[in-house]
Amino acid sequence: MIANFSKPALTLALLAGAAVAGPAQAQSAAEGQKLAFDRGKGNCLTCHVIKGGDLPGTIGPELTGLKAKYSRDDLIAIVTDETKRNPLTVMPPFGRNRILSEQEISAVVDFLQTL
Ligand code: HEC
Repeated sequence: MIANFSKPALTLALLAGAAVAGPAQAQSAAEGQKLAFDRGKGNCLTCHVIKGGDLPGTIGPELTGLKAKYSRDDLIAIVTDETKRNPLTVMPPFGRNRILSEQEISAVVDFLQTL
């Protein structure tokens, strides 16, 4: 009796878990896109071509295929303080200068991983 009940319940629980992880990540990526495109926040388009962004600059490389190129931790590090990797970079250290909070950087990186 118990086994008959618990199996479908477990399956449902697993499906519910998967359904929750998907939209939460998508929502964070959407928030990250807003921050990246916002001229008063990430302002990434001043220097980078990014899919879906208007009037991009070309001071930095186009942001594309980043998931294959960098781990999530690498991307967090680049956005937080690229001067650690390249002391001569013109890219602002968004985390060190507190232009973006840790949570905002996490959302931006969720967005970068969709590019
Ligand atoms: C003032 C110009 C400037 C701004 C603004 C800027 N970047 Fe950059 N970015 C660069 C440059 C230049 C590089 C090339 C690497 C270096 O200089 O170290 C770079 C490199 C990168 C890389 C590595 C790309 C690769 O393919 O190796 C990522 C990821 C990145 N930037 C993300 C961002 C994000 C996200 C923002 C906005 C929150 C942003 N950048 C804003 C100039 C900028």
